[in-house]
Amino acid sequence: MIPTHVTLVEVGPRDGLQNEAQPVSAAHKVELVHRLQAAGCREIEVTSFVSPKWVPQMADNVQVMAGIRRQAGVRYSVLTPNMKGLEAALPTQPDEVVVFGAASEAFSQRNINCSIAESIDRFAPVVAAAHEAGLKVRAAVSCALGCPYQGDVSADEVERVVMLMKGIGVDHCGIADTIGVGTPRKVQLAMERALKHYPVVEVSGHFHDTYGQALANIYACLQMGVHTFDTSISGLGGCPYAKGATGNVATEDVVFMLHGMGVDTGLDLDLLVDAGAYISGVLGRPPVSRVGKALLAKRGVAVNVGVNP
Ligand code: HMG
Ligand code: MG
Repeated sequence: MIPTHVTLVEVGPRDGLQNEAQPVSAAHKVELVHRLQAAGCREIEVTSFVSPKWVPQMADNVQVMAGIRRQAGVRYSVLTPNMKGLEAALPTQPDEVVVFGAASEAFSQRNINCSIAESIDRFAPVVAAAHEAGLKVRAAVSCALGCPYQGDVSADEVERVVMLMKGIGVDHCGIADTIGVGTPRKVQLAMERALKHYPVVEVSGHFHDTYGQALANIYACLQMGVHTFDTSISGLGGCPYAKGATGNVATEDVVFMLHGMGVDTGLDLDLLVDAGAYISGVLGRPPVSRVGKALLAKRGVAVNVGVNP
C-alpha cells in the first residue's frame, strides 16, 4: 500500500517565514527559493497575498515573486484569501493559488476575520477567477485535528469544510494540523473524510510538528495511499494566529524517512540540508530539523549558531 513516489510541497518560504518576528529580506527569501529548486523541489509555496497589517513578514510578496529565477517544471504557489489577494497575485504569475479555510469557527474568525460560511463566499470568486486565469487552486483546511481556541475538532467538521471547498470548485484539498496535536488514527479518520470527496492524488497532509507527531502522521497517511505532503525546510514556521504552534514537519526529516523506506521524492537530501543551513544562518539559529542537525554534525559543521548567513 505504501506509495513508491511522494510529492513534497515545500512551504518553508511562506509558512516557514511568515511567523518570523525579525525582518527577512526579499533577497534572502529569493535565495532560499533558488536553493530549494536546486535541491529538486518541484512545488514551492513562495509567499502570501494577505494584509501586511496582519502578516508583515509577507509584505514583500511582489518583490519576492519578481526576484525568482523560474525553473521549468517547478510550480510556484501563493496564498490568496480573497479577491484583493488574488488581484495582487495574478500579475506576479503564480502557477497555483491557495485558499485557506478552517474546520473550526473560532480559528476562521481569528485567522481570516470571518466565519467559515463567509470564508467560502470570499473564496468562491477567487476560485472562479483563478480557474479563468488557468491556475490550479488548492485549499488548506486548518485546525482539522484540533483548534487552539475551540479544542477538539471532529471529523464531521472537517468533512463539512472539505465539501464546501469541493462545492466551489477547489481542485486540491489539504488537511492541515495547524497546532500539531493530531495522532495517527485521528489523522486517518480526518483523511478518510477528504478522500470521500477528492481523489487521492488531490489530497495532501500539512502537519505542524508541535507535539512531535508529524512523521508518525505522515506514515499513517502513506498507509492510506496519500502521497502528497507539505513540509518546511529546516522545520521553520508556525502560524501567527495559533499561539505556540511551531513549524511544519522539516523537509529534511521527511525525506530521510522516505528515502530510508525506499520511497522516491526526487529531492537531494544533501542540498536540502544546505538550504536548511542557509536559512537557519540567515535567522541566526540552528536548524530545527533533527536530520539537518545530524547531517551537519556528521560533516563537522557547527550547528549551534547557524552556518551560512
Ligand atoms: P479584514 O480586515 O477582514 O479585511 O482581513 P477587509 O476586507 O475588511 O479589509 C481590511 C483592510 O485589509 C483593507 O485595508 C484592505 O484593503 C486590506 P485598509 O483600507 O484598512 O488600508 N486587505 C488586504 N490587503 C492586502 N492583501 C489582501 C487584503 N485583503 C484586505 N489580500 C484578511 C481579512 C483575510 C485580509 C486578513 O484577515 C488577513 O490578511 N489574514 C491573514 C491571515 C494569515 O495570513 N494567516 C497565516 C496564513 S494561514 C496558515 O498559516 C495556515 C496554513 O499553513 C495551514 C495550517 O497550518 O493550518 C495555510
Ligand atoms: Mg501551516
